[in-house]
Amino acid sequence: MHLLVFGKSGQVARALAAAVGGRHSVALAGRPQYDITDFQVVKAAVAAEAPAVIVNAAAHTAVDRAETAPETARAVNHAGAANVARAAAEAGLPLLQVSTDYVFDGAARTPYAEDAGTGPLNVYGASKLDGERAVAAATPKHLIVRTSWVFDAGGGNFVDTMLGLAATRDRLNVVDDQRAAPTAAAAVARALLRMAETAVGDGFAEWGVYHFQARPVVSWCGFARAIFAAWAELTGAPVPEVTAIPTRDYPTPARRPLYGVLATDRIDRVFGIKPPDWRQDLRQVLTARAVAAGA
Ligand SMILES: NC(=O)c1ccc[n+]([C@@H]2O[C@H](COP(=O)([O-])OP(=O)(O)OC[C@H]3O[C@@H](n4cnc5c(N)ncnc54)[C@H](OP(=O)(O)O)[C@@H]3O)[C@@H](O)[C@H]2O)c1
Repeated sequence: MHLLVFGKSGQVARALAAAVGGRHSVALAGRPQYDITDFQVVKAAVAAEAPAVIVNAAAHTAVDRAETAPETARAVNHAGAANVARAAAEAGLPLLQVSTDYVFDGAARTPYAEDAGTGPLNVYGASKLDGERAVAAATPKHLIVRTSWVFDAGGGNFVDTMLGLAATRDRLNVVDDQRAAPTAAAAVARALLRMAETAVGDGFAEWGVYHFQARPVVSWCGFARAIFAAWAELTGAPVPEVTAIPTRDYPTPARRPLYGVLATDRIDRVFGIKPPDWRQDLRQVLTARAVAAGA
């Protein structure tokens, strides 16, 4: 199976390239050569690669910056996703579109099912939801995969931020009332591959929206403490003491949902994909970083 993945240098795209191993081949398409805001460029990439399946992992993921540059977020997350979906539809190919728990308002107290009502609180979430709708309208052969708090060994994610702060701070305040689950890019990649393998088969009909999220559910504060505990154990380095604070004491340009827990029954039932344990993936990511840092 040959996969064409938009989002070349992103966390999920790189993890997908690493996950295919020798089983499949993958072409990563990214800027500046392949900008998904240009339909002709997207179409040309599909024609050149002749893939069996397309994955759109390209996105404008800077949640706070999107508040002040909403047109950029919309151009990539909405119009760009629509371009990829149109190209997939014209070529008759399945499309896997990666999306987010930020399509929800976080007011729920039990895990969100795929058909739960949406209500994004910020520009990023709204643009991703518009992208989902554009994908669904353009092609019936779509798998929209919502996930949350993606991390890997590099790439400007929360783990990076915490380890950066660990080098200079001995105390940190971290928000404790936003709850979801960190999900490793490698785990997202494994899930996407399994879904792609199944979806390219004859007679596959379970198109639509899926939730994929690790366990256990945790707050940013709990995640920070887990990062520091594992980092201290792996490297012996001193780590900051973490104090739990409420969101209202850490104002950000974008509002974020307090509850982003996703029900994952459907992806298990259809594809046999279980929620991974993020603590194991975190350990691998931190071990790789410790080795790279010579710690
Ligand atoms: N990160 C998270 O916490 C998180 C949580 C839930 C869902 N998601 C979703 O998961 C998917 C992958 O996220 P990620 O964490 O891998 O994101 P990421 O590391 O920020 O990577 C996004 C990639 O998209 C590319 N991109 C941006 N605009 C583009 C354009 N116009 N044309 C082509 N490529 C463009 C970026 O390229 P450049 O390098 O050129 O900027 C970057 O390589 C996205 O759909 C995101 O919404 C992410």
